[in-house]
Parts: sequence; structure tokens; C-alpha cells
Amino acid sequence: MSEAARRAAYLGALGIDQWVPRRAVAVPAPLTAPVPAPAVASSVDGWSALEACVRDCVRCPLHRGRTQTVFGSGARRAEWMVVGEAPGAEEDRQGEPFVGPAGQLLTAMLGAIGLARDSVFIANVLKCRPPENRDPKPEEVAECLPYLAQQVELVRPRLILAFGRVAAQNLLGTEATLGSLRGTVHRFGPLNTPVVVTYHPAYLLRSPGEKRKAWEDLKFARQVHAGLPAAD
Ligand code: URA
Repeated sequence: MSEAARRAAYLGALGIDQWVPRRAVAVPAPLTAPVPAPAVASSVDGWSALEACVRDCVRCPLHRGRTQTVFGSGARRAEWMVVGEAPGAEEDRQGEPFVGPAGQLLTAMLGAIGLARDSVFIANVLKCRPPENRDPKPEEVAECLPYLAQQVELVRPRLILAFGRVAAQNLLGTEATLGSLRGTVHRFGPLNTPVVVTYHPAYLLRSPGEKRKAWEDLKFARQVHAGLPAAD
């Protein structure tokens, strides 16, 4: 399949017929995040240690119901990092994030802005599946979020895309609605990593009429990324 055909298929999955900007979107001013100091420890050691911690984690009761933890997948020195909510049944079974129907739409959403799924790092706020796919409890997030923070420090992405209310609220430490968090560049962690939020693909599967807004968010994220200072 040609690149153009692949892009058209991705846009089709997003409910977008063709890539026609309806109006100019203001390009945000270049972000002037401080250049982070190089990591002292080898990131290989850091990844191995973190993977072992997550694999053996019993910090909250969710470990009792899991088949396995879902650490994250993708490129470990990625420019883009995707953050979702928590593993579902299929992710718990396979040990990989976003492998169910929502994962297929996520792949299409990334492809629509020219990102191959394996070129980004994908992780969740929670590494274990909550029963019946209920929302994560605050005490579960409190135990698990430090793992995500360490992943962000190891990947050192230039931009984080937060998919859904749970990812957005917990990354940003806010109870603001997803709608009010869209269209703005937020920041996460000691590296001040830019964060752009959009709808969760599972929500978009239930509410396809919202795909247009998600497409606006993805274009915004791409513009923010393009406006970042050159990588060191
Ligand atoms: N939903 C998520 O938020 N994460 C997954 O890994 C799968 C579905």
C-alpha cells in the first residue's frame, strides 16, 4: 500500500475523508523548555530495573487479579509518548498496551499524523487491569504513577499525547474536564515535557461523532511538536 493510501485509510478510520485544513490554526510559539541534563546512569540499567519493579509489583490490590503487568511498548528513545488509562482484558492477556479494538483505532490515530505505532512509546497510568474495566482508584494511581514518571524520564519524549480523561487528569494533577484541557500545551514532570490531550479511542468507538474533535487535537499536537526547539 502506498504512503498516501495508508494515510487515507488512517483518516478514514478517524472519520475524516480527506486532509483539508478548514482554517488556519495558530502555530504556538516555540516552547523553551530547559534542556535536560544527560542521564547519569545507563538507561539500559534503568529500563531493566524499572521493568523488574513493575513485573513484581504488589503495591496495590490490583496485582491479585492480573494475569501479568502491562509495562508499555514501543521505541524507548521515542520523540512521542502515548499515555492511556489502564490495561483491559486483552492487554492483561497479552501483556501489551492497546491491543484490543481501541488499540486499532489508536494505531490509526497515530498514523493519521504520520506516526508509526512502533516509533512511539506507549504506556498507561496503571500497569495492572482494574476489575470490570472500572476507573482507576486514586490510591492505585498514587502507587503506579511513579512508574509512569520514570518511564517518561527514561524515554525523554519531546511530547506526550494523553488519551482520555483518566490519563489527562492524572498526568496533569487536575480534576478539570477533558474538554477544558484540549487545545492547550500542558507540562509534565521534572523535564517539563509538553503534554497535549485528546479523547480516548475507546470513547471515540462509542461516540464516533467526536472523532472530528480528536482529529483537531492530533493536528494541534503535530503543530506543537513541529514548533519545539531542535532536539539536542
Ligand atoms: N485502554 C487503555 O487506556 N490502555 C490500554 O492499554 C488499552 C485500552
